[in-house]
Amino acid sequence: MPRSDSHNPTVSRTTSPADLPSNLGSTSGVSPPVSAATRALHPTPRGTGPAPRPLVPGIVQSTTYHHRAVGDIDGPTYSRVGNPTVDHLEDVLGGLEDALPAVTFSTGLAAETALFLALLRAGDHAVVGEAIYGGTVRLFRQILADLGIACTFVDAADVAAVKAAITPRTKLVFIESPANPTLRLTDIAAVAAVTKPAGITLVVDNTFLTPVLQRPLDLGADVCVYATTKQIEGHSVALGGAITSRDAALIERVKFIRKATGGIQTPFNAWLTTQGIKTLTVRLKQQSSNAAHVAEWLAVHPAVRRVNYPGLSTFPQRELADRQHLGAHGNVVSFEIEGGTQAGIDLLNSVKLCALVEHVGSVETLITHPASMTHADVPKEQRERVGLTDGLVRLSVGLEDPRDIIADLAQAIEAAAVQGGTCFQPVSAGVPALATASIPNAAVESKGGAAWATR
Ligand SMILES: Cc1ncc(COP(=O)(O)O)c(C=O)c1O
Repeated sequence: MPRSDSHNPTVSRTTSPADLPSNLGSTSGVSPPVSAATRALHPTPRGTGPAPRPLVPGIVQSTTYHHRAVGDIDGPTYSRVGNPTVDHLEDVLGGLEDALPAVTFSTGLAAETALFLALLRAGDHAVVGEAIYGGTVRLFRQILADLGIACTFVDAADVAAVKAAITPRTKLVFIESPANPTLRLTDIAAVAAVTKPAGITLVVDNTFLTPVLQRPLDLGADVCVYATTKQIEGHSVALGGAITSRDAALIERVKFIRKATGGIQTPFNAWLTTQGIKTLTVRLKQQSSNAAHVAEWLAVHPAVRRVNYPGLSTFPQRELADRQHLGAHGNVVSFEIEGGTQAGIDLLNSVKLCALVEHVGSVETLITHPASMTHADVPKEQRERVGLTDGLVRLSVGLEDPRDIIADLAQAIEAAAVQGGTCFQPVSAGVPALATASIPNAAVESKGGAAWATR
């Protein structure tokens, strides 16, 4: 797929959505185009140049490129504008959702910033889902507001509320589904049915589910944003962000903003992210399965007050989850235990296996206190309105044996209860008997199994 992101305006991109499938198909020699799982592994044309022809393309670290003569260059000119290793990641990411090559950035928030600069002007208005990542809230409230861009936060799960918030100045609707960290869902197709006729751009932060488990562009969204830092890279080694779309003019505008403001992804992080994507499908399937086990266990634990996970049969938007998600519901679970804020904090301070960090989507199980970490800059009234209480715990379930994760949570919940002076019925009475056969990694039998089954 030829690319020519350049300072040189005479050199233009040649990729269009129409030619993406055939390009992708030819990359692996398979036609018609293959599934996302396969594309993630065979994204580029096989090496046909001089040997050596590495299976894994190398990293081009160069910041700049030779011109043949003044005005004569047929590739990138400068790595703030384009770089072969970054291009490769962008082809892979765009291919995952049948979009144009993505535009990637140094972080998820850099991607969002460039997108908003591309789409919004002083005097414009945005409608924003009120349950979204705290950094996005901060961007709207504390940066864009000062540039004269107003926004109205709404419960995006209520499509009528989204519609009612639209004004003649509204240019953009921004939603995150599942929302971070409440897991509340927005019906993307229903919101698109409101925004499309009004000529408003619908942006979906699809970080948690990725194109593997949810395809917002197929549901009518105009743009997806990703913190590739999270599930897409998956190993906590590379920050990154991406914008995907099938709208060539929009992609060109975002690329212009990136060139002008300088937020491009680095070659090394692009390379790491491309390696992470190779296992994205299998990671998300397994981590979703593990998350479902953990959520089911939490749901019947007597010390647990509330569990949010779209895969639970009791999840209020379960029908939408099944309709909108592609066979699994992701690896993020949030919950609250009896005893309120202090009990939640005691639990967080008592885990031994789960890592207490501000992050989601890695292969290790991560645990976070959103109120003081990821969502600390969200006004308390907004947090409370969406159910983000001070005691809410967010869990990003990893690839460990789920019985070991459950064992750790069980001991941490017990520790929190002891510290808080509360007591609950021993958990052994209520733990669902997960059939061993249904537990992935069932080979790891006795230690983890005994640990959680006795609690
Ligand atoms: C859903 C979501 N979107 C965007 C971001 C921002 O990404 P980054 O930390 O790479 O700037 C995050 C970060 O936690 C996130 O969770």
